[in-house]
Amino acid sequence: MTITPTTGPKTDLSGRSFVKELDFSPEEWLSLLDLAQHLKRELYSEPDRIQHLAEANVAVIFEKASTRTRCAFEVAAHHQGAHVTYLDPSGSHMGHKESAKDSARVLGRMFDAIEYRGFSQDTVETLVRHAGVPVWNGLTDQWHPTQSLCDMLTMREHADKPDREISFAYIGDAHNNVANSLLIAGAMMGMDVRMVAPASLSNPTQVVEAARRIASKTGARITLTVDPASGVDGVDFIYTDVWVSMGEPEATWQQRIDLLLPYQVNRQLLDKTGNPDVRFMHCLPAFHDRQTEVGEQLFQSTGLDALEVTDDVFESTHSIVFDQAENRMHTIEAVMVATLGV
Ligand code: CP
Ligand code: NVA
Repeated sequence: MTITPTTGPKTDLSGRSFVKELDFSPEEWLSLLDLAQHLKRELYSEPDRIQHLAEANVAVIFEKASTRTRCAFEVAAHHQGAHVTYLDPSGSHMGHKESAKDSARVLGRMFDAIEYRGFSQDTVETLVRHAGVPVWNGLTDQWHPTQSLCDMLTMREHADKPDREISFAYIGDAHNNVANSLLIAGAMMGMDVRMVAPASLSNPTQVVEAARRIASKTGARITLTVDPASGVDGVDFIYTDVWVSMGEPEATWQQRIDLLLPYQVNRQLLDKTGNPDVRFMHCLPAFHDRQTEVGEQLFQSTGLDALEVTDDVFESTHSIVFDQAENRMHTIEAVMVATLGV
């Protein structure tokens, strides 16, 4: 569908896949955000709006667990009139008895688009090459682009200033999918981006180099630091994610806790920003209390009742994590409509 943004040129993303931020120009990325804002406004103000995906068939494949991403894809698809088929980690042959290449060619004959969440970025790129229909990345070990699109919309909504004046610090495991996606998305939007992590958990070099190349064109400021205090100084947003991501061995926990405890988001860290209105963001799920199996197990073994974020910050007025969660739906809807919609 052609998108006519409020500012900037028209953009046509019809037939395109959405597998990582680096596949899009800053203008294309901004047009997706404009479309998300438009669809969100329309959802709440125009109950009889046009459905852009009427009768489309969409497969959503999840090889890892999900609450937000799956629900956002399904509900957004329903908003737009599409039918959804969910394939869970054990419910299809893909990867077990049938290669991604063969599965892509089968599903591409039946579906108008495919969402995939799994381990390897290669798998989602294989689907793109062989399905013949748009493929949307719902998270891999390397990238989580529907998350960063959502986060940029949420920052826009909570910062009353132009994108280029927004600053955020991502703190914690900066070697993961969410950190990579945020670094590139922030660079594309010309923001002040701080990645705050121990050296052994900083973003991979190629991702940093790509962000710096983009920043040289968009005016983004990119800072990588091991120092939490200077990293968060003056920022509008502090963002963190889990310290051990899906697919990483359980044995990683103790090592990560030892490395990342100084990077926990707590009251003292918020104070270090010097910004009384600093907002807290997290892609979720979060370990902020003992009300999960994993949280309780970690409490029993370490005595910590919170990991990457303390409960008082998570539950405070600084926290905008549920606005973020809702925006997964609006931004995923924009991705589907832009690439598949009529
Ligand atoms: N943030 C996110 O991707 O959440 P889910 O794992 O619940 O989809
Ligand atoms: N980095 C996390 C993100 C979850 C949404 C993971 O991959 O588990």
